[in-house]
Amino acid sequence: MNILNKNMIEFIKKIPKAELHIHLEGSIEPEMMLLLAQKNKIRFKYKTIEDLKKAYSFEDLRDFLYVYTQGTKVLKTAEDFYNITKAYLEKSYSQNVLHTEIFIDFQTYVRRGIASDVIMDGTWAAIKEMNESKGMTAYLLLAFLRHLGAKSAMETLEEGLKYKDKLTGVGLASTEIGYPPELFKEVFDKARETGFKTTAHAGEEGPAEYVRNSIEILKVDRIDHGNKAMDDPGLVKMIVERQIPLTLCPLSNVALGNVNHLKNHTLKKKLDMGMLVSVNSDDPAYFGGYVNENMIAVARALNLTKKDIVKLAQNSFISSFLPENKKKEYLEMISHI
Ligand code: ADE
Ligand code: ZN
Repeated sequence: MNILNKNMIEFIKKIPKAELHIHLEGSIEPEMMLLLAQKNKIRFKYKTIEDLKKAYSFEDLRDFLYVYTQGTKVLKTAEDFYNITKAYLEKSYSQNVLHTEIFIDFQTYVRRGIASDVIMDGTWAAIKEMNESKGMTAYLLLAFLRHLGAKSAMETLEEGLKYKDKLTGVGLASTEIGYPPELFKEVFDKARETGFKTTAHAGEEGPAEYVRNSIEILKVDRIDHGNKAMDDPGLVKMIVERQIPLTLCPLSNVALGNVNHLKNHTLKKKLDMGMLVSVNSDDPAYFGGYVNENMIAVARALNLTKKDIVKLAQNSFISSFLPENKKKEYLEMISHI
């Protein structure tokens, strides 16, 4: 095993950073999940921490999404959404994540009779509290579940427009293959026209073409994952030239079998090519860690230098949806570390 020196680990822990790719539902730790299942009297498939841990071994994205969807069933009240959001924010803040952009689903809950108000009230209360007590900022991104199709995504966008003051943007998540980005062109056009920032999962398991079409047809501001872009040199050139951010999730890629070993992750290659890449956790409760665990693991596997870590931290703020003056403040903070 490659030894990462202690100094480097401390450096990763202390550097200010942003997280840009995290699904709120993917942050529910097993202990919290069982407590919520009990409190809400849910007939839950998993009875013990061991049951849950055993289920956390995935063949692929589809396999994971089944377990992830089971996990969302423990949520019922605004207080539940408050509790999971607060736990994620506190954990991230303890890792010097000073700003985060969180995907939330509406579709999963609205179908079960949980109103969007319940989700927004609970989530927002936790965000407000962490902002007032710590100065941490969190933006919410409404994720459309691609397997539910474009019509449902459009209805979800309409629902999201009720919370224009609390939602910063929209994203595209869930099963990628078979649901190409162009299906969602109308939804993304409308989201952009109404002032939402836009991002899409692409090239996580799907081909480079999905990354290209997310950029050219959906006109997204950012790509989530984007690993498969490497298969198309013309696309790589465009991503570098236009500095289109890619939010990479190394531990997720290995857990879902999209990268066979961290040593073969293209993060360092992308960084060296001048791509605007950042490190994110995706679903930290399922894939073995939050931002720092991801950074430490990838630094170890790919022999990253302190200069690489600084670049990744800078990129995380540059790629965020923060206003320019806030980005400058954080970059200034990093320059003094
Ligand atoms: N939803 C939660 N995690 C996801 C992932 N890794 N890919 C697509 N959709 C997701
Ligand atoms: Zn994701």
